[in-house]
Amino acid sequence: MTAAGTFGYGTEYRHLFDIQKLGAIVCKGTTLEPREGNPQPRLAETACGLLNSIGLQNIGVKALIREKAPIWASWRVPVIVNIAGETVDDYAQLAHQLEGVVGISGLEVNISCPNIKAGGAEFGANPESAARVTAAVRAATSLPVLVKLTPNTGEIARIAAAVGEAGADAISLINTVRGMAIDITTRRPLLGNKTGGLSGPAIKPIALAMVYEVAGAVDIPIIGCGGITTGRDAIEFIMAGASAVQVGTASFANPRAPLDVLEGIEEFMRKEGIEDIAELIGAARH
Ligand code: SIN
Repeated sequence: MTAAGTFGYGTEYRHLFDIQKLGAIVCKGTTLEPREGNPQPRLAETACGLLNSIGLQNIGVKALIREKAPIWASWRVPVIVNIAGETVDDYAQLAHQLEGVVGISGLEVNISCPNIKAGGAEFGANPESAARVTAAVRAATSLPVLVKLTPNTGEIARIAAAVGEAGADAISLINTVRGMAIDITTRRPLLGNKTGGLSGPAIKPIALAMVYEVAGAVDIPIIGCGGITTGRDAIEFIMAGASAVQVGTASFANPRAPLDVLEGIEEFMRKEGIEDIAELIGAARH
């Protein structure tokens, strides 16, 4: 899959490679109303990583239903809409509005964005609020529900378990790690929002450890995310317990990265004589 916020609405990439070969596309985090996002600058490169403080700039759910879903309806690749809100009711309303819309195959509940003042990662930081949002979305939709978790907590396994009990079909992890960069000439934080979320290879070991931990705490499928750039990275996540992976920041340097990762997984399986990817899921845990 592509990771939310790194692949637009899929439409931006469709002429660059055959996106229909992917497992799924997860679109940019979507809110009830359009959002302008945070003040610039909103991106800063760091060693082996990228800091962002976009602030969920997006076109809003109505425009998404009107302009994007009809395009997705003709695609073979399923599209999952990442939803974000400031209140539990925002999430429920989003799920309700997206119910039955042709072209939408699932929801990814974003309770992990570190760049907004209200909602987002606030909900994902403890088991009770994460479960409340999950249950509200579950009650409002018949679509598969993924819940995307934040690494910015000391209790990710308990949060994952709570989200599973509240009705999530799968869990994706991790979203970005909260971080900062400082411009030493201006003596100011580089990002307009001061802090942002770190992604890319710098966070891969953190993400892997969290997938490994969560795989021991839940029975529902895990979608691993965090710094995956090659097929070998993806295999590590699968061996840690993920049933699928998302490719994010790698797409900025190489728009074809999600397909390269998929082909890399296939190549590894051919070389190792593996017929079924299920043989590898959680292999490092036994
Ligand atoms: C953002 O738009 O600020 C990033 C989205 C996210 O971290 O979920």
